[in-house]
Amino acid sequence: MRLIIRGGKKLQGPVKVMGYKNAALPLLASTLLLKGETKFQNIPRLTDVMSLLEILQSMGAKVEWLGEHELKIDTREVDPKHLDKKKMKRLRGSILLLGPMLSRFKKIVVPEPGGCAIGNRPIDEHLQVLQALGAKVETDDEGCLFLHATKLTGNYVIQRFSVTGTENLVMAAALAQGRTSIRLAAAEPHVQELCRFLNKAGAKIKGVGTHELEIDGVEKLHAPRSWTVMPDYIEIGTFAVAAALTRGELEISPVVPEYLDAILSKLGSLGVKYQITDKTLKVQGVGRMDAFQLQTNIYPGFPTDLQAPFGLLATQCHGTSLIHDPLFESRLGYINELIKMGANAVIADPHRVVITGPTPLRGTEIRSLDLRSGATMVLAGLIAEGETVIHDAEVVYRGYEALDGRLNALGAEILKQENEL
Ligand code: EPU
Repeated sequence: MRLIIRGGKKLQGPVKVMGYKNAALPLLASTLLLKGETKFQNIPRLTDVMSLLEILQSMGAKVEWLGEHELKIDTREVDPKHLDKKKMKRLRGSILLLGPMLSRFKKIVVPEPGGCAIGNRPIDEHLQVLQALGAKVETDDEGCLFLHATKLTGNYVIQRFSVTGTENLVMAAALAQGRTSIRLAAAEPHVQELCRFLNKAGAKIKGVGTHELEIDGVEKLHAPRSWTVMPDYIEIGTFAVAAALTRGELEISPVVPEYLDAILSKLGSLGVKYQITDKTLKVQGVGRMDAFQLQTNIYPGFPTDLQAPFGLLATQCHGTSLIHDPLFESRLGYINELIKMGANAVIADPHRVVITGPTPLRGTEIRSLDLRSGATMVLAGLIAEGETVIHDAEVVYRGYEALDGRLNALGAEILKQENEL
């Protein structure tokens, strides 16, 4: 797929934020632990979400769409024998099935999951936390994992802030025997959301929102009747950057203001004007923007998933910015695409880039490397002079629903071509 963008248009108007992919994935995976049917609202229609649903359906989960973003799911009759292993291998997010599947079936055979090309993404953390609860893990030469446990037992586990690692452990511990104490747990908003959802189902998880969780295993979890997926704060940040870059004005809603602290603090420090209320973030692209230093971090620090849009923003700021992303080692590839468009940037090492601005960007042919850099390419096209052609654009739709149509409704000129010519 390619996107063809005619740049130079201001974005203006209200924009509705979709449900967050990285919250929807663990919520859907956790339904394997529940007895009953749950109705989810605000499920984003994204390829990653659809893939996880297909994997669950391959095992026999009943999924029924009730509206554009509403579905009901019932996993009472699933059988892991029918698992679609090929689909599971293609989706990194399917790692989130390990905890709930082990908890429910005690013996599983699954492939090692793949995903976006943003560096070495090992799964040792996931395996170690499950082993800590009593699982035995074996692998074969073809990349298959064999996990089994006669029962899962609570334990004292020190993690290393892995987001999906904590989610897997929380799901495995919810029905384990006894108490699990997690230290250095990830506290990202979507980890919190999963814990709140499980608590609504009857789990006993304390410390939600902190880096220390205490989970007392329960015997059963009852499916909550309904749940609304939180708004995507990465999308909120992406639209905020779009408003600043195009010198436009966007009213972004709904928002959960407390999840936006690091993002708003950074935008404010470089001179972007914004107003935040309980429901809406208004961003105005006016005035001068100054160079900044940014280091991505675990929550409540600045999210790595917004590093690339801010790298693009740096090309339009006065002075020299330094961006440091210690989390993943291959998330700076988009810089080479921006250089093709006229950016003045030097990649110092796999984690750091120095960007001097402001430099006008020119439309040219560029590639979308992963979903976050793909969205960044779209924003770059919006401010480039002339026409930008983004190849391999399908990855964008793993994280941003109907991005072209939604930006066009705000004044952009983006044409989507499903087939590369
Ligand atoms: N790591 C290990 N071993 C492991 C797991 C992780 O060494 O077993 C390392 C990774 O290589 C990486 C770091 O730990 O260097 C952080 O990884 P983390 O485990 O926190 O990331 P994740 O859980 O795999 C989630 C999101 C990512 C997001 C990161 C960081 C989901 C489904 N994915 O990944 O989202 O970048 O947290 O916040 O929640 C995206 O949406 O574009 C995306 C990649």
